[in-house]
Amino acid sequence: MPDPTPDTRAILHMAPATLPGGAELVLRVMPLPADVNANGDIFGGWIMAQVDLAGAVLPSRIAKGRIATVAVNQFVFKQPVSLGDLLSFYARVTRIGRTSISVHVEVWAERNPANLQRVKVTEADLTYVAIDSNGQPRPVPA
Ligand SMILES: CC(C)(COP(=O)(O)OP(=O)(O)OC[C@H]1O[C@@H](n2cnc3c(N)ncnc32)[C@H](O)[C@@H]1OP(=O)(O)O)[C@@H](O)C(=O)NCCC(=O)NCCS
Repeated sequence: MPDPTPDTRAILHMAPATLPGGAELVLRVMPLPADVNANGDIFGGWIMAQVDLAGAVLPSRIAKGRIATVAVNQFVFKQPVSLGDLLSFYARVTRIGRTSISVHVEVWAERNPANLQRVKVTEADLTYVAIDSNGQPRPVPA
């Protein structure tokens, strides 16, 4: 194989579009200094907000309209997130009910570009409900 060009090298170093279990890359973001807590790590509430946004991507597509987060069924901070980490959010639909859609979200941090490491930092399970214009549950479209 020929030596990769600088552009190809950049692509080779990008996070994969899917994980082995089929979870899709739905969001990538880097925290800012304003997101740091008193310990110097990234504030857990900031990560929860990003997970809620990332978790909503697939349910919105399936519900074809408005959704609301009804429950965070599980949330585990496995490793701290540091300034400079580039976070990739992967989501997989785990259940489609009558009006609700549940997803599993994994967050992976890329750190230390000189000697790149990928670390799973957070895992969560969330449930979203398809809602109508009055904010009431509506059936998930077939
Ligand atoms: C989402 C909302 C419209 C649901 O209304 P509701 O009258 O409680 O609805 P239901 O009890 O009929 O439940 C709707 C679905 O959610 C599911 N659900 C409710 N609570 C759940 C929980 N704790 N975990 C998993 N699923 C849950 C139900 O099983 C049902 O799914 P199904 O139809 O697929 O079987 C309403 O609770 C609401 O507006 N919540 C606030 C949403 C919001 O503002 N979110 C942003 C965070 S601040």
